Amino acid sequence: MTDGLRKGLTAYGDSGFSLFLRNAFIKAMGYSDDALDRPIVGITNTHSDYNPCHGNAPQIIDAVKRGVMLAGAMPMVFPTISIAESFAHPTSMYLRNLMAMDTEEMIRAQPMDAVVVIGGCDKTLPAQVMAAVSADLPTVVIPVGPMVVGHHKGEVLGACTDCRRLWAKYRAGEIDEAEIEAVNGRLAPSVGTCMVMGTASTMACMIEAMGLSLPMSATIPAPHAERFRSAEASGRVAAAMAKAKGPRPSEILTPAAFRNAQVVLQAIGGSTNGLIHLTAIAGRVPHRIDLDEFDAIGRKVPVLVDLKPSGAHYMEHFHHAGGVPKLMAQLGELIELDARTITGATLRELVAQAEEVPGQDVIRSRADPIRSEGGLAVLRGNLAPRGALIKHAAASPNLMQHTGRAVVFETLEDMARRIDDPDLDVAADDVLVLRNAGPKGAPGMPEAGYLPIPLKLARAGVKDMVRISDARMSGTAFGTIVLHITPESAEGGPLALVQTGDRIALDVAARRIDLKVDDAELTRRRAALPATAAARPERGYAQLFHDAVLQADDGCDFDFLTAAGRRA
Ligand code: FES
Repeated sequence: MTDGLRKGLTAYGDSGFSLFLRNAFIKAMGYSDDALDRPIVGITNTHSDYNPCHGNAPQIIDAVKRGVMLAGAMPMVFPTISIAESFAHPTSMYLRNLMAMDTEEMIRAQPMDAVVVIGGCDKTLPAQVMAAVSADLPTVVIPVGPMVVGHHKGEVLGACTDCRRLWAKYRAGEIDEAEIEAVNGRLAPSVGTCMVMGTASTMACMIEAMGLSLPMSATIPAPHAERFRSAEASGRVAAAMAKAKGPRPSEILTPAAFRNAQVVLQAIGGSTNGLIHLTAIAGRVPHRIDLDEFDAIGRKVPVLVDLKPSGAHYMEHFHHAGGVPKLMAQLGELIELDARTITGATLRELVAQAEEVPGQDVIRSRADPIRSEGGLAVLRGNLAPRGALIKHAAASPNLMQHTGRAVVFETLEDMARRIDDPDLDVAADDVLVLRNAGPKGAPGMPEAGYLPIPLKLARAGVKDMVRISDARMSGTAFGTIVLHITPESAEGGPLALVQTGDRIALDVAARRIDLKVDDAELTRRRAALPATAAARPERGYAQLFHDAVLQADDGCDFDFLTAAGRRA
């Protein structure tokens, strides 16, 4: 038999001895033969003192174990890397693939018949799902859930849209030191993930829409009792999947599931990062996310969820309004409702049970959308031959068509050094350009695309400018920000050719981002470029990352981790 404890025996050249030894050691934990004979459900422990977003993970794990045991299987908890946004140097994205490798290999290495992966803080859910998809063991995903909202001077606050908004006010001199200190203690009032439609919430919503987690699991607030009841139910489902040996992620993640994730991403006004992570997950199946198809979905699918940063409310309000099932009900035939879920039910069956909440104004109908088009648009042009992204739902309408003079920052360090210099030659209608901030260039494609408004302009009341880069941006940010320019400048993308003083034209309706410099001049500049701007690190993970990381349109996965593997 090759299930339960008998799976994946350690190689001693004698399988009987391998099992004998494994049993002898595991009995040191006090388990009975009855317990050890059961199907095993592995549970990833992503708790860490460095990760406050996962502060409820121990309680979630307890609830999952309870559910697994009530259903007659054996839970086995094991640790994986945990990544918290504000505790990861140089950036959490640099570590996502490492976490995915860790989780995948520990799922493969240890005996288990199903696995429950627990994540939430931005890169953790993508990493855990990428791992589970590659291991292709029956998997239940549990998001840790969003924080509850904070309050300040009668205003509702949330991490981290309001972190950025209030920090910008502080930089502009509109609020003082004492007030920013008070705000600092109120932005994150509980454990859990950012409670706006940032990357964590976006990923949780897409994963629920793909059928990999239980209904409502994306939106239940992290500290609520319901979160732990949902975790217990997830444990029961995982036990059933361990016994049935399915469904596996490869059976759930059909083209319909990926299409549904893209529809939901547009309809929630989700994070730009969501597209990169979805692309990476798809590359593990394999299923390619086509940027033009994603843009076409965005032209048809309205934004229906009124959440910050593009709207007004927070995740707990989305939850109380009916969550993702209610959103999918409103989306109707835009969702492929015959898609299967881990529960065994189709989305159609789950959506039929969506709660009707009288008077709620968070999930709109298609007749009364927040915006008639989706939240994200794909741009192309001579600056972005393989695409760029803008979250136009969270941008200034008056900048959707704009031509301005480029003000170029060579690196993150260059930007930090000069952005607030009173002598910086910059005006409100200029286009701020940051390069060498892509997957290889930075490295890790940090969330630096939200370039701060230069101090002297901020103090003069400028709230938004066109900003372009090969970096990413936090899903919680607001602004007219063009991101993920591909190929990145460190790989010789056209962004490397821009000089201060050039004209750059953005036209979101036409889906264009262009450098207004003639081809002969661009050819001359290209000939003068150094071969590569990103030096190869001497050793370790940094070298692996440099050698293997793919561009944004391939999800920034490592080439050797994709389903296709490393191409020659
Ligand atoms: Fe963890 Fe935002 S910092 S989800």
